[in-house]
Amino acid sequence: MNDNIFINTHPIVQDRLTKLRNKATRPKTFRACLNEIALFLAIDATAYLPTYTKIIETPLQETKGQLLVETNPLIVPILRAGLALSDSLHSVIPNADVGHIGLYRDHDTHMPVEYLNKLPSDLNRPIFVVDPMLATGNSMIKTLDILMEAGAKESDITVITLLCAPEGIKQMRKKYNHIRIFTAAVDDLLNNDAYIAPGLGDAGDRYFGTE
Ligand code: URA
Repeated sequence: MNDNIFINTHPIVQDRLTKLRNKATRPKTFRACLNEIALFLAIDATAYLPTYTKIIETPLQETKGQLLVETNPLIVPILRAGLALSDSLHSVIPNADVGHIGLYRDHDTHMPVEYLNKLPSDLNRPIFVVDPMLATGNSMIKTLDILMEAGAKESDITVITLLCAPEGIKQMRKKYNHIRIFTAAVDDLLNNDAYIAPGLGDAGDRYFGTE
């Protein structure tokens, strides 16, 4: 099941994650910790961006270096909580565009319904879909479906998420088997209220202070 899942076990990431999990952590610290983890995950997830060799001159001598190919990637936060990851990612790939997908959960079916779709027309580029919690997997699958229908290629897509439930990964893998997932942890389970356990509660509410 864990093919193509990259868990960042760095002590700083795990320290900040433990602070996020702690229910006593207030929004100011919660935001700082999540932003720091997001930066580590952003660095991991961008490791696959293509580079080219360029000869430059240091003050001492000529040398060869690597520069990023100007691919103009796309960041796709799933609103609202996805915004918590997108700024840190944008800081390492500042030339990225941002396409927003807004989803809400239908009261009766519990399935995600699209309320906002602001994607650029060109999806032929690296795409980073960001959402802190891969819980049921339904929102992620819906977003991936929207991207694929709009012309994106599965091989261009990378998912960045703070926490995953095994159930969400399994669900996503039924349809999207090869997409790389970068995360800080795979938790024990999804509870009956569709919360990740042990988890950290509602990521959006705790990040934005709307508990
Ligand atoms: N969304 C959250 O914010 N938390 C969960 O545990 C699951 C989904």
